[in-house]
Amino acid sequence: MYMSTAEIRSAFLKFFESKGHQIVESSSLVPHNDPTLLFTNAGMNQFKDCFLGADKRSYTRATTAQRCVRAGGKHNDLENVGFTARHHTFFEMLGNFSFGDYFKHDAIGFAWEFLTEVLCLPKEKLLVTVYETDDEAFDIWNKEIGIPAERIIRIGDKKGGKAYESDNFWAMGDTGPCGPCSEIFYDHGEHIWGGRPGTPEEDGDRFIEIWNNVFMQFNRQSDGTMEPLPKPSVDTGMGIERISAIMQSVHSNYEIDVFQTLIKASADVVGCDDLSSQSLRVIADHIRSCSYLIVDGVMPSNEGRGYVLRRIIRRAVRHGNKLGAQGVFFHKLVGVLAEVMGEAGVELKNQQPLVEKILRIEEENFGRTLERGMNILNDALDALKAEDKSTLDGETVFKLYDTYGFPADLTNDVARERQFDIDEAGFEKAMEAQRKRAREAGNFGTDYNATIKTESESEFCGYSSTKGSSKIAEIFVDGVQSESLSAGDKAIIILDETPFYAESGGQCGDLGVLKTELGLFQVEDTQKLSHAIAHHGVLAEGVLSTGDSVEAIVDDERRLASSLNHTATHLLHAALRQVLGTHVAQKGSLVKPESLRFDFSHLEAVTPIELRSVERLVNQQIRRNNDVVTEVTDIESAKQKGAMALFGEKYDDEVRVLSMGDFSVELCGGIHASRTGDLGLFRITSEGGIAAGIRRIEAVTGDAALDAIEHEKTDFRLKISDMVSKAKQQDKLIQQLKDKIATAESANIMGKVQEIAGTKVLVAALEGADNKNLRTMVDDAKNRVGSGVILIANIANNKVSLIAGVTKDLTGKVKAGELVNLVAQQIGGKGGGRPDMAQAGGTDVEALPEALKSVQGWLEERL
Ligand code: ALA
Repeated sequence: MYMSTAEIRSAFLKFFESKGHQIVESSSLVPHNDPTLLFTNAGMNQFKDCFLGADKRSYTRATTAQRCVRAGGKHNDLENVGFTARHHTFFEMLGNFSFGDYFKHDAIGFAWEFLTEVLCLPKEKLLVTVYETDDEAFDIWNKEIGIPAERIIRIGDKKGGKAYESDNFWAMGDTGPCGPCSEIFYDHGEHIWGGRPGTPEEDGDRFIEIWNNVFMQFNRQSDGTMEPLPKPSVDTGMGIERISAIMQSVHSNYEIDVFQTLIKASADVVGCDDLSSQSLRVIADHIRSCSYLIVDGVMPSNEGRGYVLRRIIRRAVRHGNKLGAQGVFFHKLVGVLAEVMGEAGVELKNQQPLVEKILRIEEENFGRTLERGMNILNDALDALKAEDKSTLDGETVFKLYDTYGFPADLTNDVARERQFDIDEAGFEKAMEAQRKRAREAGNFGTDYNATIKTESESEFCGYSSTKGSSKIAEIFVDGVQSESLSAGDKAIIILDETPFYAESGGQCGDLGVLKTELGLFQVEDTQKLSHAIAHHGVLAEGVLSTGDSVEAIVDDERRLASSLNHTATHLLHAALRQVLGTHVAQKGSLVKPESLRFDFSHLEAVTPIELRSVERLVNQQIRRNNDVVTEVTDIESAKQKGAMALFGEKYDDEVRVLSMGDFSVELCGGIHASRTGDLGLFRITSEGGIAAGIRRIEAVTGDAALDAIEHEKTDFRLKISDMVSKAKQQDKLIQQLKDKIATAESANIMGKVQEIAGTKVLVAALEGADNKNLRTMVDDAKNRVGSGVILIANIANNKVSLIAGVTKDLTGKVKAGELVNLVAQQIGGKGGGRPDMAQAGGTDVEALPEALKSVQGWLEERL
């Protein structure tokens, strides 16, 4: 019976729904609130706390189709992709879960019914394993289901190994819920090589594990001890790609519908005809993990999750390059993927342009060094071959990493294709300088729960108040529980009940003081710790001990300022979606008393006009002064109200919906203003890009917004006065230069000095000189001749300016005023002045030469 992958997904969920299971959405690939886990790697991750008994839901049975990534961390399949028929970086896990409800009997019964009655798999093709000592599971399979004993295989601990390292004992990570399991295998037939589980040939492809039923019974601690879970539970997982292969009568996962479509599309974009190429499989696999990691908010980077994403992208690009891809290709597969994933592709479709852009930019960047790196690597491998060696030295691996951006696993991938290996230890040694960064990628974060164990639960009473009375439940100094504190001790204090808000949802934790009869504890930060609220700080005065009564007082000015900014981020989010479009999705936020920061997906810079519209919309909402209404409801009603939820975020069944009129409805547990008007004013202070396709806006509200405007004004004023004084200086400089030019020019015209009756006479006509300089020129000429008569005419803008100067000893004979007027009259003008200096103007430019000629005769008469 053929079934498509999409049909199998929905048949599975429906089957378990009919058995009383709640269908729960897949959670994000970035585990919520679990720093011990790099990526979601199994269906049970989102239910970890349900198994531990720390999280109570309205249901005790659930079923999911969970997207998973196994690259990096405990379960890492990256290096196997392309080399086997069934390893993937990304896959979907179908699962059913019981939280203290049914156990082995029903788990086994459900699995068998689904496989043999819904999927109609032939019973004789199935065989199962149980944990070596699990007689109960053995008997259920054998006596109740009727599987012959020779097809039930007991598998125990590896020789000298521990239970949690066995194939039949499943653990999520080094810590957390775990237990023995029973796996179901499918026999693909004699024509395929491979042995039954537990035999030396078990790694072959004949007997394939399709379904793992884990009987959760323990919580593994970081020191290795196994604490029993409150109630035995069930966690199961079936890789959808493996079961699809069976239902589609193919033997490799890469031959199922989803992969065939992706492989064909990959062949198209890289221009390759050979559909059986391993590299095409790698590309088809990697586009899935890369796209979904970006959808879930991971960005390529050099550390942590981002570096794993970068490694997968680069590996895919290298395989495309190997097949001869011309130019960038990887991002062209996103649309096909969104299509082929059906139900599971909806969110990818929404974010398609963003995912494509990020992949394209990554590929372009790596493309710049890929070819040179490949040449160096191939040369190095050729040299090894010539020397008959098989291991590439760590220095070269490091150089490829450092200079050409080749992750070590990529180098290893190429080396492996040519039957070489790499000196990983040597590489690590050469990486010493980058050790720190590598460590951050490996040991992802610190698990508070691993360092500090607390059973305490704190009630948060701070939504409506910033003060409260309580009791000290626990004290921790350096991570160790302690009974009392004395002045100067740094510590974490947990109260039964507290008005202090612990950092979450981007809003920073409260500061303030805890007062006891004898002590004063300064709270410097507030953080969540399991189900407790942890006050981090220092005992400033006195002493205090567990059990003491305390007065908890939050710094309410800071709190108020933070709450205004938190409300502003919601208004900003809604305004951005109105102005830029609904593709805008929150990618992060930071709410502090001083300011707010909001990161969101958008492909271009936000223009000044758009920014102004956003700012105006937010301020409009502030003036509307809507009540900020909070309502606690179930997730479904919240979604029906149109509440914006962050995609892939894990929400409890009870959610807090925060709305401001119709403008903004969002799920949020943070602290907010009572009315939008409390914000007073909203002002954006900066906008910029922080990663491909991700923009960041910083903004302020209230007094800080007024301060920001004052600041801008002051800056503006300072700039203007600066410019004015610069302009003045420049004017002065220009005048000085002009004077210099005039002096130089007058020196030039001195060549025209003639003598009339023994007196020095200068008559000169200039063109385009600055009239303001004429006086200087005349003075200068007077000085140069010592005794004489000067007349200068300047033609500028179709007008004539005249200036005459007569040295004092001659003013008895010649008057400057008369001289200018003699000329001025002839050119349609008139003027006047003192006997030694006079100015005039005229408009008849044509008549000037004649008029100047008349000066000679006039002067001869007088001198
Ligand atoms: N959590 C189990 C697994 O991943 C079902 O195999």
